[in-house]
Amino acid sequence: MSPAHSGSEPTTFASGLLAGKTAFVAGGTSGINLAIAHVLAEAGARVAVFSRNAERVAQAATALRAHGRQVEGYVGDVREYAAIERALAAARAALGTLDIVVSGAAGNFICPASQLSSNGFKAVMDIDLLGTFHVYRAAYEHLTRPGASLITIGAPQSTEAYFGQAHVSAAKAGVDMLTRSLAVEWGREGIRVNGIVPGPIEGTEGVTRLAPTPEIRATWEQANPMGRMGTGREVGNVALFLCSPAASYVNGTIVYCDGGQVLGGARDYRAAWEAQQAAGSR
Ligand code: NAP
Ligand code: COA
Repeated sequence: MSPAHSGSEPTTFASGLLAGKTAFVAGGTSGINLAIAHVLAEAGARVAVFSRNAERVAQAATALRAHGRQVEGYVGDVREYAAIERALAAARAALGTLDIVVSGAAGNFICPASQLSSNGFKAVMDIDLLGTFHVYRAAYEHLTRPGASLITIGAPQSTEAYFGQAHVSAAKAGVDMLTRSLAVEWGREGIRVNGIVPGPIEGTEGVTRLAPTPEIRATWEQANPMGRMGTGREVGNVALFLCSPAASYVNGTIVYCDGGQVLGGARDYRAAWEAQQAAGSR
């Protein structure tokens, strides 16, 4: 599998779109969030990334510096308010007030609710939901106003219920409503808050955990209206739109970047119709 941020296609946006801007990406050291950080840096932003694993933070910062912008990496856990507060203050001191904040740290594992411990449920709620509150609450003091754009990385579990995903659905549904609530509260200050719900994104930890075999991944591709998974760069381009002046009146919106998967339309009758065609019946 290729890394989620790989992709050689040229950007559809004007070069230097984010020149002079500063972005902070919580959970920005791997997968989709790192892909977003790459797209923002490529568009000219100074970028800070934050996550728990120091080696991963260092590697991500090194890779992001290839775009030629100032990049800072901070180590910490979104569950610890003091840690994210310190990192955001340090990022503001090093890079200037924050124009873009992405909240993408998340935890996921498959476990039916009947076997999930209290602490297992809490771990995911704390990373995804409390963590997103921590990131935005601590960032609030450091935002460029008017003009800041906050982007929450949600998941299809926020509106769809799946086996073994009660903890993730509860957390991501909360994340969507937190996004909308902050959009309502902070809009007057010129701070926009939007979300992105990615579909299955190739080469990511999320897909490795939920679709661990090639056979399962093939059924996922088959079930997607576009017949494939997405790339991290495709999610990054949605983030770039949301934080660009082109989205200056877009606030409190959850954008799906999932090939239409949330519609569920490819799942039900395609196989039946194909069987019907093959049999020559109507
Ligand atoms: P990933 O590669 O595991 O990325 C998660 C990132 O968050 C890592 O950088 C991780 O780094 C960091 N992180 C995890 N827990 C943290 C914590 N407590 N504090 C600070 N940082 C933390 O996952 P991914 O699959 O790309 O998913 C990224 C986002 O997209 C998530 O919000 C996920 O829900 C969403 N999403 C993914 C998919 C998909 O297809 N993969 C689909 C829909 C939605 P450390 O380990 O160093 O902390
Ligand atoms: N099934 C059931 N319960 C699990 C589990 C699993 N696969 N993995 C962890 N848990 C439970 C643990 O048993 C523990 O509960 P307990 O104290 O009652 O035993 C609780 O969850 C916390 O586990 P711990 O390993 O201490 O958590 P952590 O804070 O170190 O890590 C996780 C958080 C569990 C979410 C870990 O998977 C993680 O860091 N994920 C980040 C990457 C990721 O998930 N990426 C995909 C994003 S879509």
